[in-house]
Amino acid sequence: MPAMDIRPLEGVGAEITGVDLKALSRAEETAIRDAFAEQGVIFFRDQSLSEEDHIAFAQRFGQINVNRFFAAHPDYPQIAMVAKDVGDTDNIGGGWHTDHSYDEIPALGSVLVARELPKTGGDTRFASMYRAYETLPDELKRAVEGKRAIHSARHIFGGQDDSYYSQSDAGRGRIGNADAVETLSDVAHPLIITHPLSGKKALFVNPAFTIGIDGMDEAGGKALLQKLFAHAMREEHTCRFKWEPGSVAFWDNRSTWHWALNDYQGQRRVMHRITIEGVSR
Ligand SMILES: [Fe+2]
Repeated sequence: MPAMDIRPLEGVGAEITGVDLKALSRAEETAIRDAFAEQGVIFFRDQSLSEEDHIAFAQRFGQINVNRFFAAHPDYPQIAMVAKDVGDTDNIGGGWHTDHSYDEIPALGSVLVARELPKTGGDTRFASMYRAYETLPDELKRAVEGKRAIHSARHIFGGQDDSYYSQSDAGRGRIGNADAVETLSDVAHPLIITHPLSGKKALFVNPAFTIGIDGMDEAGGKALLQKLFAHAMREEHTCRFKWEPGSVAFWDNRSTWHWALNDYQGQRRVMHRITIEGVSR
């Protein structure tokens, strides 16, 4: 196998080749850790990871978070199933978001392994919240200085009739356990975080789970959030990843957003996700 190569992509992320994630040397693991911290999302091709290999790779970076809401792999509860079958309409994660921002300690990241892919479509877009911060106009930087945003899972995963997954066919078997929302309180996180691994600043809000801004009235908070979202999702902060058999993506939930495109109706797509616990600040 040729030596490991890390090629940064335009917009966000890097593609890493020349490495077998089942058999990493210490030097390769360190290089992967550094690329992950710096780039926000890293992509691998041509891997052949069993479920055990997937779990072992994720555990190199922290403790596994067993997902509350996603259907679990039948044999490996650490693996969340991100699936859409031929008769399903909605996918999971079909809008800009970051996983678990509603947790008191947001997740470090997620490792997604492709298992069954549609013939066409099913790409995932990613956006860099490092870039979003770096390019934030001064006026917006001043507006968010020292502020905290409120994050909630309730309107997405809750059992009430108007929650996102109550109204989606993904809520019939693929996403469930809505009662777990009752164990979660809405949390406030700084709008600008200093990333614990890279030391870089990142914009930490997302359109799915961020519902307001601490100390601002609802309308004012939402208006400011809309401006931040519109800035963050600018094309130049993003990339689009085309999955192939053997593809693996490892993204940082604190410095990137992602969006699973739902453009493969009538086809089946199955991905295995493992989410890794974050660290307290
Ligand atoms: Fe996600």
